[in-house]
Amino acid sequence: MMIGGTDTTSTTIEWIMTQLARHPSKLQKAQEEIRRVVGQKLVIEHEDLAKMHYLKLVIKETLRLHPPIVFLLPRETLDNVEVAGFGIAVRTRVLVWENPDEFIPERFENSPVDWKGRDFQYIPFGAGRRGCPGLSFGTVTLEFVTANLLYWLDWELPKGLRCENLDMKEVYGLTTHKDKPLFLVPIPHSF
Ligand code: HEM
Repeated sequence: MMIGGTDTTSTTIEWIMTQLARHPSKLQKAQEEIRRVVGQKLVIEHEDLAKMHYLKLVIKETLRLHPPIVFLLPRETLDNVEVAGFGIAVRTRVLVWENPDEFIPERFENSPVDWKGRDFQYIPFGAGRRGCPGLSFGTVTLEFVTANLLYWLDWELPKGLRCENLDMKEVYGLTTHKDKPLFLVPIPHSF
């Protein structure tokens, strides 16, 4: 319970910030939305999160690329099968996304695919009776912490580091986390 409820969330927040640091225009889009929703009231309330549409897409896309618990997720073909004319060998892991390696939060815009365990191409919280019981708590935590990080602070890369050179290596353990910790420079935002 402690590992399931802490490491998953903190690891995902680090990946969210890494992906946003790599994609400055998406970082800016998320910050503009959050600051528009919260305005000058200087506190983010629960009801505000419901209006942070782009932030939810960013979190969804981060969990697609970096699901923190991968050792429980793999689904493989049990036999040689043919799908839409493609032969797929037994025990193959299949990724069914377009541009699967790219960070594109917009792919979830108007998409019925969600993480509740019914869409088997996207199951960061697992599926079925052993699916994650902390889904709602986990996602609200991700939204709340990320919204605060992006509302209060602007973020820059350390001098000399370019966004395309950010280290993206993953390490597999109980959770799949970044090999090298992310370092960003926080700058208090003036409202
Ligand atoms: C980003 C957040 C989280 C992600 C991505 C995540 C993901 C997962 C996954 C993939 C599983 C295995 C599901 C399966 O076998 O099909 C799982 C199980 C579990 N999670 Fe989470 N989790 C998150 C947050 C949390 C939180 C916040 C809690 C509790 C406060 C929690 C508690 C648990 C527990 C107790 C299990 C084991 C359930 C069982 O085996 O019956 N998780 N989680």
